[in-house]
Amino acid sequence: MSFTPAPWPRKLRSQEWFGGTSKDAIYHRSWMKNQGLPADLFDGRPVIGICNTWSELTPCNAHLRDLAERVKFGIYEAGGLPVEFPVFSPSESTLRPTAMMYRNLCAMDVEEAVRGKCIDGVVLLAGCDKTTPALLMGAASVDLPAIVVSGGPMLNGHFRGERVGSGTHLWRFSEAVRAGEMTEAEFVEAEASMSRSPGSCNTMGTASTMASMAEALGMALSGNAAIPAVDSRRRVMAHLTGRRIVDMVKDDLKPSDIMTREAFENAIRTNAAIGGSTNAVIHLLAIAGRVGIDLTLEDWDRCGRDVPTIVNLMPSGQHLMEEFFYAGGLPVVIKRLGEAGLLHREALTVSGGAIWDEVKEVQNWNEDVILPVERALAKSGGIAVLKGNLAPLGAVLKPSAATPALMQHRGRAVVFEDIDDYKARINDEDLDIDESCVMVLRNCGPRGYPGMAEVGNMGLPPKVLRKGITDMVRISDARMSGTAYGTVVLHTSPEAARGGPLAVVRSGDMIELDVAARRLHLDISDEELAARLAAWTPQVQAPASGYASLYHERVMGPETGADFDFLVGCRGNAVGKESH
Ligand code: FES
Repeated sequence: MSFTPAPWPRKLRSQEWFGGTSKDAIYHRSWMKNQGLPADLFDGRPVIGICNTWSELTPCNAHLRDLAERVKFGIYEAGGLPVEFPVFSPSESTLRPTAMMYRNLCAMDVEEAVRGKCIDGVVLLAGCDKTTPALLMGAASVDLPAIVVSGGPMLNGHFRGERVGSGTHLWRFSEAVRAGEMTEAEFVEAEASMSRSPGSCNTMGTASTMASMAEALGMALSGNAAIPAVDSRRRVMAHLTGRRIVDMVKDDLKPSDIMTREAFENAIRTNAAIGGSTNAVIHLLAIAGRVGIDLTLEDWDRCGRDVPTIVNLMPSGQHLMEEFFYAGGLPVVIKRLGEAGLLHREALTVSGGAIWDEVKEVQNWNEDVILPVERALAKSGGIAVLKGNLAPLGAVLKPSAATPALMQHRGRAVVFEDIDDYKARINDEDLDIDESCVMVLRNCGPRGYPGMAEVGNMGLPPKVLRKGITDMVRISDARMSGTAYGTVVLHTSPEAARGGPLAVVRSGDMIELDVAARRLHLDISDEELAARLAAWTPQVQAPASGYASLYHERVMGPETGADFDFLVGCRGNAVGKESH
Protein backbone atom coordinates (compact mmCIF):
# COMPACT_ATOMS: atom_id res chain seq x y z
CA MET A 1 0.00 0.00 0.00
CA SER A 2 1.67 3.17 -1.12
CA PHE A 3 -0.91 5.85 -1.59
CA THR A 4 -0.40 9.51 -0.86
CA PRO A 5 -3.57 11.62 -0.90
CA ALA A 6 -3.56 14.58 -3.26
CA PRO A 7 -3.48 18.07 -1.70
CA TRP A 8 -6.87 19.64 -0.98
CA PRO A 9 -8.32 22.09 -1.88
CA ARG A 10 -7.40 22.11 -5.58
CA LYS A 11 -9.18 22.76 -8.86
CA LEU A 12 -11.22 19.74 -9.92
CA ARG A 13 -11.99 18.40 -13.36
CA SER A 14 -15.63 19.52 -13.17
CA GLN A 15 -14.47 23.13 -13.04
CA GLU A 16 -13.46 22.79 -16.68
CA TRP A 17 -17.22 22.83 -17.29
CA PHE A 18 -18.52 24.93 -14.43
CA GLY A 19 -15.72 27.27 -13.37
CA GLY A 20 -15.55 30.95 -14.31
CA THR A 21 -17.77 33.34 -16.27
CA SER A 22 -17.03 32.37 -19.84
CA LYS A 23 -19.84 31.74 -22.29
CA ASP A 24 -19.16 28.01 -22.03
CA ALA A 25 -19.25 27.98 -18.21
CA ILE A 26 -22.52 29.87 -18.19
CA TYR A 27 -23.90 27.54 -20.83
CA HIS A 28 -23.04 24.49 -18.71
CA ARG A 29 -24.30 25.89 -15.41
CA SER A 30 -27.41 27.42 -16.87
CA TRP A 31 -28.68 24.16 -18.31
CA MET A 32 -27.91 22.27 -15.11
CA LYS A 33 -29.82 24.92 -13.16
CA ASN A 34 -33.04 24.00 -14.96
CA GLN A 35 -33.13 21.18 -12.38
CA GLY A 36 -33.37 23.68 -9.53
CA LEU A 37 -29.75 23.58 -8.39
CA PRO A 38 -28.51 26.58 -6.31
CA ALA A 39 -25.52 28.51 -7.69
CA ASP A 40 -23.16 27.55 -4.86
CA LEU A 41 -23.30 23.87 -5.87
CA PHE A 42 -21.01 24.82 -8.77
CA ASP A 43 -18.39 26.46 -6.57
CA GLY A 44 -15.67 23.86 -7.07
CA ARG A 45 -17.00 21.10 -4.83
CA PRO A 46 -16.71 17.50 -6.07
CA VAL A 47 -19.33 16.63 -8.68
CA ILE A 48 -20.16 12.96 -8.30
CA GLY A 49 -21.81 10.86 -10.99
CA ILE A 50 -24.11 8.06 -9.91
CA CYS A 51 -23.89 5.56 -12.73
CA ASN A 52 -27.13 3.62 -12.49
CA THR A 53 -28.02 0.33 -14.15
CA TRP A 54 -31.60 0.67 -12.92
CA SER A 55 -34.09 -0.81 -15.33
CA GLU A 56 -37.45 -2.48 -15.02
CA LEU A 57 -36.16 -4.87 -17.66
CA THR A 58 -33.28 -5.77 -15.34
CA PRO A 59 -35.46 -6.91 -12.46
CA CYS A 60 -32.48 -7.60 -10.21
CA ASN A 61 -31.62 -3.88 -10.44
CA ALA A 62 -35.17 -2.48 -10.38
CA HIS A 63 -34.72 -1.04 -6.88
CA LEU A 64 -31.55 0.89 -7.65
CA ARG A 65 -33.29 4.26 -8.04
CA ASP A 66 -34.16 4.05 -4.37
CA LEU A 67 -30.55 3.28 -3.49
CA ALA A 68 -29.36 6.14 -5.69
CA GLU A 69 -31.37 8.53 -3.51
CA ARG A 70 -29.51 7.23 -0.47
CA VAL A 71 -26.18 7.71 -2.24
CA LYS A 72 -27.22 11.30 -2.92
CA PHE A 73 -27.89 11.90 0.79
CA GLY A 74 -24.32 10.90 1.55
CA ILE A 75 -22.82 12.97 -1.26
CA TYR A 76 -24.69 16.11 -0.21
CA GLU A 77 -23.76 15.55 3.43
CA ALA A 78 -20.07 15.30 2.53
CA GLY A 79 -20.22 18.49 0.50
CA GLY A 80 -20.48 17.11 -3.04
CA LEU A 81 -22.97 17.56 -5.86
CA PRO A 82 -24.61 14.26 -6.95
CA VAL A 83 -25.77 13.74 -10.52
CA GLU A 84 -27.42 10.45 -11.45
CA PHE A 85 -27.23 9.09 -14.98
CA PRO A 86 -28.42 5.87 -16.63
CA VAL A 87 -26.37 3.41 -18.64
CA PHE A 88 -27.33 0.41 -20.69
CA SER A 89 -28.40 -2.35 -18.32
CA PRO A 90 -27.75 -5.93 -19.44
CA SER A 91 -30.16 -8.24 -17.65
CA GLU A 92 -29.27 -11.86 -17.15
CA SER A 93 -32.85 -13.02 -17.07
CA THR A 94 -34.44 -11.17 -19.97
CA LEU A 95 -31.84 -10.25 -22.59
CA ARG A 96 -31.26 -12.28 -25.76
CA PRO A 97 -29.21 -13.86 -27.16
CA THR A 98 -27.27 -13.52 -23.91
CA ALA A 99 -26.46 -10.75 -21.44
CA MET A 100 -22.77 -11.56 -21.87
CA MET A 101 -22.87 -10.29 -25.45
CA TYR A 102 -23.85 -6.90 -24.03
CA ARG A 103 -21.40 -6.71 -21.11
CA ASN A 104 -18.89 -4.98 -23.35
CA LEU A 105 -21.56 -2.63 -24.72
CA CYS A 106 -22.44 -1.61 -21.17
CA ALA A 107 -18.75 -1.16 -20.37
CA MET A 108 -18.35 1.11 -23.41
CA ASP A 109 -21.40 3.11 -22.36
CA VAL A 110 -19.99 3.53 -18.84
CA GLU A 111 -16.53 4.48 -20.05
CA GLU A 112 -17.71 7.09 -22.52
CA ALA A 113 -20.33 8.50 -20.13
CA VAL A 114 -17.92 8.83 -17.22
CA ARG A 115 -15.22 10.40 -19.36
CA GLY A 116 -17.49 12.68 -21.32
CA LYS A 117 -19.52 14.06 -18.43
CA CYS A 118 -18.70 16.90 -16.06
CA ILE A 119 -17.90 14.72 -13.04
CA ASP A 120 -14.96 14.19 -10.71
CA GLY A 121 -15.81 10.72 -9.44
CA VAL A 122 -18.46 8.08 -9.82
CA VAL A 123 -20.56 5.72 -7.74
CA LEU A 124 -21.25 2.50 -9.62
CA LEU A 125 -24.71 1.08 -8.88
CA ALA A 126 -24.86 -2.53 -10.00
CA GLY A 127 -26.47 -5.83 -9.11
CA CYS A 128 -27.28 -8.33 -11.85
CA ASP A 129 -24.41 -10.48 -13.12
CA LYS A 130 -22.99 -8.43 -15.97
CA THR A 131 -23.62 -5.00 -14.54
CA THR A 132 -20.91 -5.22 -11.87
CA PRO A 133 -18.04 -6.23 -14.17
CA ALA A 134 -19.21 -3.89 -16.93
CA LEU A 135 -19.22 -0.89 -14.59
CA LEU A 136 -15.83 -1.81 -13.16
CA MET A 137 -14.38 -2.25 -16.66
CA GLY A 138 -15.67 1.09 -17.88
CA ALA A 139 -14.63 2.96 -14.75
CA ALA A 140 -11.19 1.34 -14.80
CA SER A 141 -10.56 2.54 -18.34
CA VAL A 142 -11.34 6.13 -17.33
CA ASP A 143 -9.58 5.96 -13.95
CA LEU A 144 -11.52 8.64 -12.10
CA PRO A 145 -12.23 7.87 -8.43
CA ALA A 146 -14.91 5.18 -8.41
CA ILE A 147 -16.71 3.04 -5.85
CA VAL A 148 -19.23 0.23 -6.16
CA VAL A 149 -22.43 -0.10 -4.22
CA SER A 150 -24.29 -3.32 -4.95
CA GLY A 151 -28.04 -3.73 -5.06
CA GLY A 152 -27.83 -6.71 -2.71
CA PRO A 153 -29.36 -10.17 -2.93
CA MET A 154 -33.02 -11.15 -2.74
CA LEU A 155 -34.42 -12.65 0.44
CA ASN A 156 -34.43 -16.43 0.76
CA GLY A 157 -36.93 -18.32 -1.36
CA HIS A 158 -39.22 -20.92 0.23
CA PHE A 159 -41.35 -23.59 -1.44
CA ARG A 160 -43.29 -26.21 0.46
CA GLY A 161 -41.03 -26.08 3.47
CA GLU A 162 -37.84 -26.12 1.44
CA ARG A 163 -35.42 -23.20 1.12
CA VAL A 164 -35.20 -22.28 -2.54
CA GLY A 165 -32.20 -20.65 -4.18
CA SER A 166 -32.29 -18.50 -7.31
CA GLY A 167 -31.24 -20.48 -10.32
CA THR A 168 -29.97 -23.48 -8.36
CA HIS A 169 -33.49 -24.70 -7.73
CA LEU A 170 -34.55 -23.79 -11.23
CA TRP A 171 -32.07 -26.39 -12.50
CA ARG A 172 -33.05 -28.87 -9.78
CA PHE A 173 -36.78 -28.51 -10.32
CA SER A 174 -36.35 -28.64 -14.10
CA GLU A 175 -34.49 -31.94 -13.84
CA ALA A 176 -37.07 -33.25 -11.37
CA VAL A 177 -39.81 -32.52 -13.92
CA ARG A 178 -37.83 -34.28 -16.66
CA ALA A 179 -37.22 -37.24 -14.37
CA GLY A 180 -40.96 -37.42 -13.58
CA GLU A 181 -40.48 -36.50 -9.91
CA MET A 182 -42.29 -33.14 -10.08
CA THR A 183 -45.32 -32.02 -12.05
CA GLU A 184 -45.29 -29.01 -14.34
CA ALA A 185 -48.01 -27.43 -12.19
CA GLU A 186 -45.75 -27.69 -9.14
CA PHE A 187 -42.88 -26.20 -11.15
CA VAL A 188 -45.03 -23.20 -12.07
CA GLU A 189 -46.15 -22.85 -8.44
CA ALA A 190 -42.49 -22.78 -7.35
CA GLU A 191 -41.74 -19.94 -9.77
CA ALA A 192 -42.88 -17.06 -7.56
CA SER A 193 -41.25 -18.51 -4.46
CA MET A 194 -37.80 -18.19 -6.04
CA SER A 195 -37.96 -14.39 -6.36
CA ARG A 196 -39.90 -12.94 -3.48
CA SER A 197 -38.20 -9.59 -2.99
CA PRO A 198 -36.18 -6.99 -4.88
CA GLY A 199 -32.53 -7.87 -5.38
CA SER A 200 -30.15 -10.10 -7.25
CA CYS A 201 -29.92 -13.91 -7.10
CA ASN A 202 -29.72 -15.10 -3.49
CA THR A 203 -27.31 -17.96 -4.17
CA MET A 204 -23.55 -17.61 -4.55
CA GLY A 205 -24.22 -17.16 -8.24
CA THR A 206 -22.49 -14.72 -10.49
CA ALA A 207 -24.19 -11.61 -9.07
CA SER A 208 -23.22 -12.42 -5.47
CA THR A 209 -19.80 -13.54 -6.66
CA MET A 210 -19.15 -10.31 -8.52
CA ALA A 211 -20.38 -8.22 -5.59
CA SER A 212 -17.89 -10.20 -3.49
CA MET A 213 -15.19 -9.63 -6.10
CA ALA A 214 -15.80 -5.87 -6.00
CA GLU A 215 -15.38 -5.96 -2.22
CA ALA A 216 -12.32 -8.24 -2.32
CA LEU A 217 -10.71 -6.04 -4.97
CA GLY A 218 -11.14 -3.14 -2.58
CA MET A 219 -13.61 -1.32 -4.85
CA ALA A 220 -16.55 -1.35 -2.42
CA LEU A 221 -16.86 -0.56 1.26
CA SER A 222 -16.27 -3.52 3.54
CA GLY A 223 -19.45 -5.55 4.06
CA ASN A 224 -21.12 -4.38 0.86
CA ALA A 225 -21.55 -7.74 -0.87
CA ALA A 226 -23.99 -9.63 1.32
CA ILE A 227 -26.51 -7.16 2.76
CA PRO A 228 -29.94 -8.15 1.44
CA ALA A 229 -31.48 -5.69 -0.99
CA VAL A 230 -34.43 -4.92 1.28
CA ASP A 231 -32.50 -4.72 4.55
CA SER A 232 -32.33 -1.16 5.90
CA ARG A 233 -28.58 -1.60 6.19
CA ARG A 234 -28.36 -1.74 2.39
CA ARG A 235 -29.62 1.85 2.37
CA VAL A 236 -27.05 2.73 5.01
CA MET A 237 -24.33 1.19 2.82
CA ALA A 238 -25.48 3.36 -0.09
CA HIS A 239 -25.53 6.43 2.16
CA LEU A 240 -22.02 5.78 3.48
CA THR A 241 -20.77 5.10 -0.04
CA GLY A 242 -22.04 8.52 -1.08
CA ARG A 243 -20.11 10.11 1.75
CA ARG A 244 -16.96 8.18 0.96
CA ILE A 245 -16.72 8.99 -2.75
CA VAL A 246 -16.51 12.71 -1.98
CA ASP A 247 -13.40 12.12 0.12
CA MET A 248 -12.00 9.77 -2.53
CA VAL A 249 -12.22 12.61 -5.04
CA LYS A 250 -10.50 15.01 -2.64
CA ASP A 251 -7.74 12.41 -2.11
CA ASP A 252 -7.70 11.49 -5.83
CA LEU A 253 -7.92 7.80 -4.94
CA LYS A 254 -8.39 6.06 -8.29
CA PRO A 255 -9.18 2.51 -9.52
CA SER A 256 -5.59 2.11 -10.67
CA ASP A 257 -4.41 2.79 -7.10
CA ILE A 258 -6.71 0.08 -5.76
CA MET A 259 -6.91 -2.61 -8.45
CA THR A 260 -3.31 -3.79 -8.32
CA ARG A 261 -2.03 -7.31 -8.96
CA GLU A 262 -2.23 -7.93 -5.20
CA ALA A 263 -5.88 -6.92 -5.23
CA PHE A 264 -6.66 -9.35 -8.05
CA GLU A 265 -4.86 -12.16 -6.23
CA ASN A 266 -6.93 -11.37 -3.15
CA ALA A 267 -10.07 -11.55 -5.28
CA ILE A 268 -9.10 -14.88 -6.86
CA ARG A 269 -8.49 -16.43 -3.44
CA THR A 270 -11.72 -14.96 -2.15
CA ASN A 271 -13.55 -16.53 -5.07
CA ALA A 272 -12.15 -19.92 -4.08
CA ALA A 273 -13.14 -19.44 -0.45
CA ILE A 274 -16.71 -18.48 -1.28
CA GLY A 275 -17.15 -21.17 -3.96
CA GLY A 276 -17.76 -18.38 -6.43
CA SER A 277 -18.90 -18.50 -10.01
CA THR A 278 -16.71 -19.56 -12.93
CA ASN A 279 -17.90 -16.37 -14.59
CA ALA A 280 -15.63 -14.45 -12.23
CA VAL A 281 -12.69 -15.84 -14.21
CA ILE A 282 -13.73 -14.06 -17.38
CA HIS A 283 -14.82 -10.87 -15.67
CA LEU A 284 -11.70 -10.43 -13.54
CA LEU A 285 -9.46 -11.07 -16.54
CA ALA A 286 -11.34 -8.36 -18.43
CA ILE A 287 -11.25 -5.87 -15.54
CA ALA A 288 -7.52 -6.52 -15.05
CA GLY A 289 -6.98 -5.85 -18.75
CA ARG A 290 -8.52 -2.40 -18.31
CA VAL A 291 -6.00 -1.42 -15.62
CA GLY A 292 -3.05 -2.97 -17.41
CA ILE A 293 -2.58 -5.94 -15.08
CA ASP A 294 -1.41 -9.02 -16.99
CA LEU A 295 -3.70 -11.46 -15.17
CA THR A 296 -3.83 -14.96 -16.68
CA LEU A 297 -5.68 -18.25 -16.32
CA GLU A 298 -2.51 -19.59 -14.70
CA ASP A 299 -2.90 -16.98 -11.95
CA TRP A 300 -6.36 -18.38 -11.29
CA ASP A 301 -5.08 -21.90 -10.92
CA ARG A 302 -2.00 -20.93 -8.90
CA CYS A 303 -3.73 -18.60 -6.45
CA GLY A 304 -6.83 -20.72 -5.88
CA ARG A 305 -5.24 -24.15 -5.41
CA ASP A 306 -4.56 -23.91 -1.68
CA VAL A 307 -7.75 -22.17 -0.73
CA PRO A 308 -10.54 -24.24 0.84
CA THR A 309 -14.17 -23.37 0.09
CA ILE A 310 -15.55 -22.37 3.47
CA VAL A 311 -18.76 -20.59 2.53
CA ASN A 312 -21.60 -23.07 2.68
CA LEU A 313 -23.89 -21.48 0.12
CA MET A 314 -25.77 -22.87 -2.85
CA PRO A 315 -24.94 -24.01 -5.45
CA SER A 316 -21.94 -25.70 -3.78
CA GLY A 317 -23.50 -25.82 -0.30
CA GLN A 318 -26.76 -25.36 1.59
CA HIS A 319 -27.42 -21.78 2.60
CA LEU A 320 -28.26 -18.51 0.89
CA MET A 321 -26.96 -14.96 0.94
CA GLU A 322 -29.27 -13.94 3.78
CA GLU A 323 -27.57 -16.43 6.10
CA PHE A 324 -24.18 -15.34 4.80
CA PHE A 325 -24.96 -11.77 5.81
CA TYR A 326 -26.17 -12.80 9.27
CA ALA A 327 -22.99 -14.86 9.74
CA GLY A 328 -20.84 -11.81 9.12
CA GLY A 329 -20.54 -11.84 5.34
CA LEU A 330 -17.46 -11.42 3.23
CA PRO A 331 -15.30 -9.60 5.81
CA VAL A 332 -15.21 -12.85 7.84
CA VAL A 333 -13.95 -14.75 4.79
CA ILE A 334 -11.31 -12.15 4.01
CA LYS A 335 -10.18 -12.24 7.62
CA ARG A 336 -9.82 -16.02 7.40
CA LEU A 337 -7.67 -15.64 4.29
CA GLY A 338 -5.53 -13.14 6.14
CA GLU A 339 -5.10 -15.45 9.11
CA ALA A 340 -4.10 -18.28 6.78
CA GLY A 341 -1.43 -16.23 5.04
CA LEU A 342 -3.52 -16.16 1.84
CA LEU A 343 -4.20 -12.43 1.71
CA HIS A 344 -2.16 -9.45 0.65
CA ARG A 345 -3.07 -7.65 3.85
CA GLU A 346 -1.75 -4.27 2.77
CA ALA A 347 -3.86 -4.06 -0.38
CA LEU A 348 -5.53 -0.65 -0.56
CA THR A 349 -9.32 -0.27 -0.61
CA VAL A 350 -11.75 2.55 -1.28
CA SER A 351 -11.52 3.28 2.44
CA GLY A 352 -8.05 4.66 1.86
CA GLY A 353 -6.63 2.03 4.20
CA ALA A 354 -5.45 -1.58 4.05
CA ILE A 355 -7.96 -4.39 3.50
CA TRP A 356 -6.72 -6.17 6.64
CA ASP A 357 -7.61 -3.19 8.78
CA GLU A 358 -11.18 -3.45 7.49
CA VAL A 359 -11.67 -7.06 8.57
CA LYS A 360 -9.32 -7.90 11.42
CA GLU A 361 -11.92 -7.31 14.16
CA VAL A 362 -14.92 -9.09 12.61
CA GLN A 363 -16.47 -12.27 13.99
CA ASN A 364 -18.08 -15.34 12.49
CA TRP A 365 -21.59 -15.66 13.93
CA ASN A 366 -22.52 -18.96 12.31
CA GLU A 367 -20.05 -21.80 11.69
CA ASP A 368 -22.62 -23.73 9.67
CA VAL A 369 -22.55 -20.95 7.10
CA ILE A 370 -18.89 -19.91 7.20
CA LEU A 371 -17.27 -23.21 7.98
CA PRO A 372 -14.13 -24.03 9.92
CA VAL A 373 -11.38 -25.26 7.59
CA GLU A 374 -11.76 -28.83 8.92
CA ARG A 375 -15.31 -28.87 7.52
CA ALA A 376 -14.56 -27.04 4.25
CA LEU A 377 -16.78 -27.94 1.30
CA ALA A 378 -13.68 -28.46 -0.83
CA LYS A 379 -10.04 -28.55 0.23
CA SER A 380 -8.95 -26.94 -2.99
CA GLY A 381 -11.77 -24.59 -3.83
CA GLY A 382 -10.09 -22.64 -6.60
CA ILE A 383 -11.06 -22.79 -10.23
CA ALA A 384 -9.17 -25.61 -11.92
CA VAL A 385 -7.61 -24.55 -15.20
CA LEU A 386 -7.33 -27.49 -17.59
CA LYS A 387 -5.12 -27.74 -20.63
CA GLY A 388 -4.48 -30.37 -23.27
CA ASN A 389 -4.98 -31.01 -26.94
CA LEU A 390 -8.70 -30.34 -26.51
CA ALA A 391 -8.09 -26.97 -24.83
CA PRO A 392 -4.70 -25.59 -25.89
CA LEU A 393 -5.52 -22.14 -24.46
CA GLY A 394 -7.32 -23.50 -21.43
CA ALA A 395 -10.66 -24.50 -20.01
CA VAL A 396 -12.06 -24.19 -16.49
CA LEU A 397 -13.90 -26.38 -14.00
CA LYS A 398 -15.26 -25.58 -10.56
CA PRO A 399 -14.22 -28.46 -8.31
CA SER A 400 -16.51 -27.47 -5.45
CA ALA A 401 -19.55 -27.89 -7.73
CA ALA A 402 -18.33 -31.13 -9.35
CA THR A 403 -18.74 -34.79 -8.42
CA PRO A 404 -15.48 -36.11 -6.92
CA ALA A 405 -15.84 -39.50 -8.63
CA LEU A 406 -16.01 -37.83 -12.04
CA MET A 407 -12.95 -35.63 -11.65
CA GLN A 408 -10.88 -38.33 -13.25
CA HIS A 409 -12.87 -39.83 -16.06
CA ARG A 410 -12.49 -41.33 -19.51
CA GLY A 411 -15.61 -41.55 -21.61
CA ARG A 412 -17.09 -41.74 -25.08
CA ALA A 413 -17.98 -38.37 -26.59
CA VAL A 414 -21.55 -37.58 -27.54
CA VAL A 415 -21.33 -34.41 -29.59
CA PHE A 416 -23.96 -31.72 -29.99
CA GLU A 417 -23.23 -29.29 -32.80
CA ASP A 418 -24.88 -26.35 -31.05
CA ILE A 419 -27.57 -25.65 -28.50
CA ASP A 420 -30.38 -26.25 -31.01
CA ASP A 421 -28.95 -29.66 -31.85
CA TYR A 422 -28.75 -30.44 -28.13
CA LYS A 423 -32.35 -29.42 -27.53
CA ALA A 424 -33.54 -31.40 -30.53
CA ARG A 425 -31.90 -34.67 -29.48
CA ILE A 426 -31.42 -34.77 -25.72
CA ASN A 427 -34.88 -36.16 -24.96
CA ASP A 428 -34.68 -38.80 -27.70
CA GLU A 429 -34.86 -42.19 -26.03
CA ASP A 430 -32.84 -43.61 -28.94
CA LEU A 431 -29.89 -41.24 -28.31
CA ASP A 432 -26.83 -43.46 -27.89
CA ILE A 433 -25.74 -42.23 -24.48
CA ASP A 434 -25.30 -43.45 -20.93
CA GLU A 435 -23.87 -41.98 -17.74
CA SER A 436 -20.29 -42.96 -18.62
CA CYS A 437 -20.32 -40.79 -21.74
CA VAL A 438 -18.91 -37.27 -22.05
CA MET A 439 -21.40 -34.76 -23.37
CA VAL A 440 -19.78 -32.26 -25.75
CA LEU A 441 -21.46 -29.02 -26.79
CA ARG A 442 -19.81 -26.60 -29.20
CA ASN A 443 -20.40 -23.33 -31.04
CA CYS A 444 -21.51 -21.70 -27.80
CA GLY A 445 -18.43 -19.52 -27.19
CA PRO A 446 -18.21 -15.71 -27.49
CA ARG A 447 -18.29 -15.78 -31.27
CA GLY A 448 -20.27 -18.95 -31.68
CA TYR A 449 -23.50 -18.31 -29.78
CA PRO A 450 -22.91 -15.25 -29.97
CA GLY A 451 -22.04 -14.04 -26.50
CA MET A 452 -21.01 -17.26 -24.79
CA ALA A 453 -24.28 -18.39 -23.31
CA GLU A 454 -24.70 -20.05 -19.91
CA VAL A 455 -25.60 -23.40 -21.40
CA GLY A 456 -22.53 -25.42 -20.42
CA ASN A 457 -24.37 -27.23 -17.62
CA MET A 458 -26.61 -28.92 -20.18
CA GLY A 459 -29.28 -31.08 -18.61
CA LEU A 460 -28.79 -34.84 -18.59
CA PRO A 461 -30.80 -37.13 -20.87
CA PRO A 462 -34.07 -38.32 -19.24
CA LYS A 463 -33.09 -41.98 -19.50
CA VAL A 464 -30.00 -41.25 -17.38
CA LEU A 465 -31.91 -39.07 -14.92
CA ARG A 466 -34.47 -41.82 -14.39
CA LYS A 467 -31.68 -44.03 -13.03
CA GLY A 468 -31.16 -41.49 -10.27
CA ILE A 469 -27.94 -40.21 -11.87
CA THR A 470 -27.52 -36.47 -11.37
CA ASP A 471 -24.15 -35.72 -12.94
CA MET A 472 -22.11 -36.53 -16.02
CA VAL A 473 -18.95 -35.01 -17.46
CA ARG A 474 -19.92 -32.19 -19.79
CA ILE A 475 -17.53 -30.15 -21.95
CA SER A 476 -18.27 -27.02 -23.94
CA ASP A 477 -17.01 -23.62 -25.02
CA ALA A 478 -19.98 -22.07 -23.21
CA ARG A 479 -20.22 -20.56 -19.75
CA MET A 480 -22.30 -21.86 -16.86
CA SER A 481 -24.61 -19.94 -14.59
CA GLY A 482 -22.98 -19.25 -11.25
CA THR A 483 -26.03 -20.86 -9.67
CA ALA A 484 -25.43 -24.16 -11.44
CA TYR A 485 -23.42 -27.22 -10.50
CA GLY A 486 -21.95 -30.41 -11.96
CA THR A 487 -18.75 -31.81 -13.44
CA VAL A 488 -18.80 -29.24 -16.16
CA VAL A 489 -15.78 -28.16 -18.21
CA LEU A 490 -16.35 -24.65 -19.50
CA HIS A 491 -14.74 -21.88 -21.58
CA THR A 492 -12.85 -24.43 -23.70
CA SER A 493 -10.49 -22.33 -25.74
CA PRO A 494 -10.03 -21.61 -28.58
CA GLU A 495 -13.77 -21.90 -29.08
CA ALA A 496 -15.18 -24.09 -31.84
CA ALA A 497 -16.32 -21.11 -33.91
CA ARG A 498 -12.66 -20.03 -34.18
CA GLY A 499 -11.53 -23.48 -35.20
CA GLY A 500 -10.42 -24.73 -31.80
CA PRO A 501 -10.03 -28.52 -31.40
CA LEU A 502 -13.50 -28.70 -29.84
CA ALA A 503 -14.79 -28.10 -33.39
CA VAL A 504 -13.49 -31.44 -34.64
CA VAL A 505 -14.45 -33.85 -31.85
CA ARG A 506 -16.61 -36.65 -33.21
CA SER A 507 -19.18 -38.73 -31.40
CA GLY A 508 -17.44 -41.94 -30.41
CA ASP A 509 -14.04 -40.33 -29.75
CA MET A 510 -12.67 -41.00 -26.27
CA ILE A 511 -12.04 -38.02 -23.99
CA GLU A 512 -9.97 -38.01 -20.80
CA LEU A 513 -10.55 -35.56 -17.98
CA ASP A 514 -8.05 -35.50 -15.12
CA VAL A 515 -8.68 -32.53 -12.86
CA ALA A 516 -5.82 -33.31 -10.48
CA ALA A 517 -3.40 -33.31 -13.42
CA ARG A 518 -5.23 -30.33 -14.97
CA ARG A 519 -5.57 -32.32 -18.19
CA LEU A 520 -8.25 -32.40 -20.90
CA HIS A 521 -7.33 -34.78 -23.67
CA LEU A 522 -8.94 -35.94 -26.89
CA ASP A 523 -7.65 -39.44 -27.41
CA ILE A 524 -6.70 -39.31 -31.09
CA SER A 525 -3.26 -39.03 -32.65
CA ASP A 526 -1.62 -35.68 -33.30
CA GLU A 527 -1.74 -36.46 -37.04
CA GLU A 528 -5.45 -37.22 -36.93
CA LEU A 529 -6.17 -34.04 -34.98
CA ALA A 530 -4.09 -31.96 -37.40
CA ALA A 531 -5.87 -33.49 -40.39
CA ARG A 532 -9.30 -32.81 -38.93
CA LEU A 533 -8.38 -29.20 -38.10
CA ALA A 534 -7.00 -28.67 -41.61
CA ALA A 535 -10.29 -29.85 -43.08
CA TRP A 536 -12.43 -27.69 -40.76
CA THR A 537 -14.49 -24.87 -42.22
CA PRO A 538 -16.30 -22.17 -40.17
CA GLN A 539 -19.87 -23.04 -39.33
CA VAL A 540 -20.82 -19.73 -37.75
CA GLN A 541 -21.43 -16.85 -40.16
CA ALA A 542 -20.50 -13.30 -39.17
CA PRO A 543 -23.56 -11.05 -38.69
CA ALA A 544 -23.77 -8.54 -41.55
CA SER A 545 -24.27 -5.38 -39.51
CA GLY A 546 -25.02 -3.81 -36.18
CA TYR A 547 -23.56 -4.43 -32.75
CA ALA A 548 -23.57 -8.18 -33.33
CA SER A 549 -21.15 -7.79 -36.24
CA LEU A 550 -18.82 -5.62 -34.15
CA TYR A 551 -19.00 -8.21 -31.38
CA HIS A 552 -18.22 -11.08 -33.73
CA GLU A 553 -15.27 -9.30 -35.27
CA ARG A 554 -13.59 -7.85 -32.20
CA VAL A 555 -14.40 -10.04 -29.21
CA MET A 556 -11.40 -11.89 -27.82
CA GLY A 557 -11.35 -15.38 -26.32
CA PRO A 558 -12.46 -16.19 -22.78
CA GLU A 559 -8.86 -16.89 -21.78
CA THR A 560 -8.28 -13.12 -21.81
CA GLY A 561 -11.69 -12.06 -20.57
CA ALA A 562 -13.76 -11.84 -23.78
CA ASP A 563 -13.29 -8.08 -23.92
CA PHE A 564 -13.12 -6.25 -27.23
CA ASP A 565 -9.54 -6.05 -28.44
CA PHE A 566 -9.85 -2.28 -28.89
CA LEU A 567 -11.08 -1.71 -25.32
CA VAL A 568 -8.20 -3.24 -23.43
CA GLY A 569 -6.27 -0.73 -21.34
CA CYS A 570 -6.82 2.56 -19.57
CA ARG A 571 -7.56 5.52 -21.81
CA GLY A 572 -7.72 8.04 -18.99
CA ASN A 573 -10.10 10.89 -18.33
CA ALA A 574 -8.78 13.77 -20.39
CA VAL A 575 -11.60 16.10 -21.34
CA GLY A 576 -12.38 16.49 -25.03
CA LYS A 577 -12.65 19.78 -26.89
CA GLU A 578 -15.45 22.19 -26.07
CA SER A 579 -18.24 21.95 -28.64
CA HIS A 580 -19.83 25.40 -28.41
FE1 FES B 1 -29.91 -11.05 -12.15
FE2 FES B 1 -29.29 -13.51 -11.14
S1 FES B 1 -30.51 -13.02 -12.87
S2 FES B 1 -28.69 -11.56 -10.48
